[in-house]
Amino acid sequence: MSENKLRVAVLGAGAWARGAHIPGWQRDPRCEVVVLCDVERDRAESMAREFNIPVADNDWQAVVSRSDIDVVDVATPSHTHLELARAALEAGKHVLCEKPVAFDFRDTLRAAELADRKGLRTKLGFTFRYSPGVLYAKSLIDEGFIGEPYIFNGYEQNSQWLDPKTPLRQVDHTADQSVLLTSSLEGYGAPIIDIGHWWVGADYSRVTGIMRNFVPERVVRATGQMMRMNIDDGDIFIGEYANGAIGSIQTSYVTVGNYPGIEARIYGSKGAIICRLIEEFGIAETIKVATPDAVEFKQLEIPSRFYPQGGAPTESWRSLFYANLIKGFIDEIQSGAGKSHAGFRDGAWVQEVVNAVERSHHERRWVDLPLER
Ligand SMILES: NC(=O)c1ccc[n+]([C@@H]2O[C@H](COP(=O)([O-])OP(=O)(O)OC[C@H]3O[C@@H](n4cnc5c(N)ncnc54)[C@H](O)[C@@H]3O)[C@@H](O)[C@H]2O)c1
Repeated sequence: MSENKLRVAVLGAGAWARGAHIPGWQRDPRCEVVVLCDVERDRAESMAREFNIPVADNDWQAVVSRSDIDVVDVATPSHTHLELARAALEAGKHVLCEKPVAFDFRDTLRAAELADRKGLRTKLGFTFRYSPGVLYAKSLIDEGFIGEPYIFNGYEQNSQWLDPKTPLRQVDHTADQSVLLTSSLEGYGAPIIDIGHWWVGADYSRVTGIMRNFVPERVVRATGQMMRMNIDDGDIFIGEYANGAIGSIQTSYVTVGNYPGIEARIYGSKGAIICRLIEEFGIAETIKVATPDAVEFKQLEIPSRFYPQGGAPTESWRSLFYANLIKGFIDEIQSGAGKSHAGFRDGAWVQEVVNAVERSHHERRWVDLPLER
């Protein structure tokens, strides 16, 4: 083991750790995954063997307080994120956390403030901000390609849980079924709301939205049983940005189409860009652009500088996009200065929009942002 490599502990040995997080860390020579922890010890041990990680543990509290760890990566179920991320920050570790950090944006904000006080870096699992196509689009926007931004349209939708027999994990099966519970908006809305903020270059100032339950009964992973689940499995909201642009977001996991199902479109005074992050026929994503004098959208080749080492359009989106996210996080930790991209503050702001849309749905009205602190 090298002295100057960042030493990483991954919490959670599940599907996403296997497909995205661990391959991302192991692709970057500046770090080393030294501990894999899962409350299910067998899972931690077998995945540690699979990825040649020296230590497997089942005690996350002991792991986050180890003095030989620099970074904690939280890849566990949503309801555990806040407790684990906060404990890791308290212990002085930089933290990568899957979204959302917390269901109430104020908790995420407090975690961001804690990181700032301790001089630590944070990163949210906003995977799609790091796709080569979305990064390329952002560089075109920064160069003035679209001019003044007018309209942003964002989608994250696929048919992952259209079949009610596919066990769903994004639910609290003990929740009161008389009230529609937020699910898709939070799980699938967050990354595309984040891209909207980033591309438009402004925050939402007000939103109004609708959440809907289309599939009334489904199998829940926690119980293995078919049960009534009054959850948002599809939603739409519109909003105004603080710089005068307007936008719409649509998310669902019961609408037909492949993963991950992101589509981000921005239209401005000088040009338009459409990124489709939908794995189709072996290609992870495409980017198309148009200008007022060439209004037929044409596909652009994504320059190699936006790809991680060894990356290609035919690689799985999971490892391809996450390799860029982790590279960006290590760059930020090592530089020690400058703004965090997709850090906990961005996570708090995205969650505040999610909380505002929930309120708009339940109270059937426009909701102004920011919300009360
Ligand atoms: N950003 C993205 O695009 C994206 C994609 C997929 C999943 N995710 C998120 O990643 C997270 C993990 O998803 P998954 O599909 O791998 O779930 P999973 O259920 O397959 O795995 C989660 C693992 O965490 C373990 N765990 C639970 N509590 C723990 C704790 N306190 N300490 C250590 N381990 C603990 C569980 O035993 C399980 O093995 C979720 O929050 C999910 O929403 C994000």
